[in-house]
Amino acid sequence: MIETGDTGRTWLLTGASSSYALQLTERDELVHLHWGPQISLAAAEALAAAPQPPPRGFESALDGREEYPVEGGPRFVRPALSVRTEEVRGTEWVLAGAAVDGDELRIGFTDPVHRLALDLHYRMRDDSDVIERWATVAHTGPDGPPLELLRADAAAWTLPARDGWRMSRLHGRWAAETQIARTELTYGESVISSRRGHTGHQHLPWVALDADGTATEEHGEVYGCALGWSGSWRISVQQLPDGIVQITGGAGHDDAGLLRLAPGESYTTPVFAGLWSGAGFGGASRAWHAWQLAHVVPDAERLRPVLYNSWEATGFDISQDQQRALAERAAAMGVELFVVDDAWFGRRTDDRAGLGDWTPNPDRFPAGLKPLADEVHGLGMQFGIWVEPEMVNPDSDLYRAHPDWVQHFPGRTRTEFRHQLVLNLARNDVREYLWEQLDALLTSAPIDYVKWDFNRSFTDAGWPGEEYAQKLWVEHVDGLYALIDRLRAAHPSVAFESCSGGGGRVDLGILSRTDQVWTSDNTDPLDRLVIQEGFSQIHPARVMAAWVTDSPNVQLNDRVSSLRFRFVSAMAGVLGVGGDLTEWSAEELAEARSWVDLYKEIRPHVQRGALYRLRAPRGGLSAVQYVHGEETVVLVWLEAQRYGERPPALRLRGLDPTATYTCLDTGAVHHGSVLLHQGLHTGLRGDLDARVLRLRRA
Ligand code: GLA
Repeated sequence: MIETGDTGRTWLLTGASSSYALQLTERDELVHLHWGPQISLAAAEALAAAPQPPPRGFESALDGREEYPVEGGPRFVRPALSVRTEEVRGTEWVLAGAAVDGDELRIGFTDPVHRLALDLHYRMRDDSDVIERWATVAHTGPDGPPLELLRADAAAWTLPARDGWRMSRLHGRWAAETQIARTELTYGESVISSRRGHTGHQHLPWVALDADGTATEEHGEVYGCALGWSGSWRISVQQLPDGIVQITGGAGHDDAGLLRLAPGESYTTPVFAGLWSGAGFGGASRAWHAWQLAHVVPDAERLRPVLYNSWEATGFDISQDQQRALAERAAAMGVELFVVDDAWFGRRTDDRAGLGDWTPNPDRFPAGLKPLADEVHGLGMQFGIWVEPEMVNPDSDLYRAHPDWVQHFPGRTRTEFRHQLVLNLARNDVREYLWEQLDALLTSAPIDYVKWDFNRSFTDAGWPGEEYAQKLWVEHVDGLYALIDRLRAAHPSVAFESCSGGGGRVDLGILSRTDQVWTSDNTDPLDRLVIQEGFSQIHPARVMAAWVTDSPNVQLNDRVSSLRFRFVSAMAGVLGVGGDLTEWSAEELAEARSWVDLYKEIRPHVQRGALYRLRAPRGGLSAVQYVHGEETVVLVWLEAQRYGERPPALRLRGLDPTATYTCLDTGAVHHGSVLLHQGLHTGLRGDLDARVLRLRRA
């Protein structure tokens, strides 16, 4: 809901449990008033009317107050917008107007010198505490020099004054994504970013700040901000001299230049979403999850199938017969979607060749993919394939025909990673080629699922002949989005997974057009608990793919773990199986079948329930709980039992203290009040033990 104050210059946005207020001053400055628990319009207007203390010394009266600080004038904070022509740098605003349209507020400004129009957008939905903010900048023309956007962030968020703040981030690298780091914020700027052309394994574009470092999993004030952009990006958290904290975020990794706008052209930033929660990190996560399931992820009400993926089993050495043999075993296990990973196309027999040539390898699939897809369907499963459309191996027909289609600088080395180069998706001919290839592929066989990979970062991101090559960083992502959108529209029954060597492209932008993401190439079930804990800070289990692979985990660390531990670890997300099933014994296959059956029973709760992280994976007992309707599901893991002691009782969350709950496995009846206060003994013992507990409200 959006309310407008009497003067028409104060706005109050109200969501499920929080409010956000802003005001246009008499001088048409757009300043921040409130972000936090719900307040009334009268309270917002009182804040607007309160006199501002004059700035001290060298400080500015605007810094730390503005909704969208720009470069120029009496400002010294990091600007959200930085624009220049050959002659004039910075902006000076004239108010153009404000409008409320349903749950969206738009406030417009113009800069007559630059012929620039700026629209700031805010959207807060009644069922959520997430505020979506973005900006549009346009060169209104009809003439005038081109405008260079050095920086155009989506928003600046301002936190209330507190004694101090702690900042949480999710850092990582390949096979070790989304690890939580929390540090005290101090004066100056803390910047996280990707300079890689994709979201990156190194940081999810998300931060959380809790006042005085006092929030816990279920208590305290937490502010979160997350960006919906799948290219290079930057989030800057600034603590100003007076202690006020402002957070800006947008596309592009530095101020080297983002885009150039000719008369008539415009740029819309990605969404930089913000959230306040009064219920700790867990409350913030649940609010992020609910918002993504309701408003971001396509078809989120559809439960994701259990998949089998052949990558860890077969690598590059694949054949139709071998895939069929795996598919038969997967089907017998209850798998619902069979995915052929890399090496089905072109001359792809290792990672040196074939990327770019998206037609089936005639030696391996003589009649194309259709026979295998039909067989897989005959086994009662959906059929999926792996692609990496944005890439090309120099050893490919595509590269031999179009060496100029890759990002490169004239006269410079074309740096290879994994023997591959990045196609320039900012080019229309490249987009059109990929559209034709992928559309033909999806038409050639009954394909239900596409795992879309991206296995290297940008390096030599040049575009010879293009006047403003820097735009490639933004337009590559625009090209990717346009391609996926077009494929989805033409093939509406096909689901897409975003992968980038595991979790290198996980963000709200890609999640608004894909059905799930590959969380990490690390399938070790113990490491995964930590990666999943981090991932769940912002994204829901419904999009978090997790596979059960072989033990020992030869790919990573030779760790030996039981099928039980591997399954319960992977059941915390969208369950998949990725082991070499031809090596699994009859007993293992039968046991796996029973785990898959159990997963299907708990799946609605895992994929749609409210997540409570009961205990973090820090060496001992850890657990997550999903509350959904009358049922609650607990997944609990014991890394190592110490001193022969019984692991601690698990205190559950989100239950009704006045209700009783029946354990669906033992039939035991528990009182909600006891489960909440004293907890439940899980009976786990030894090393790497795990269990699924299901309780139903009596
Ligand atoms: C990436 C993915 C893997 C697999 C390989 C195939 O590393 O993350 O899951 O698809 O590529 O080459």
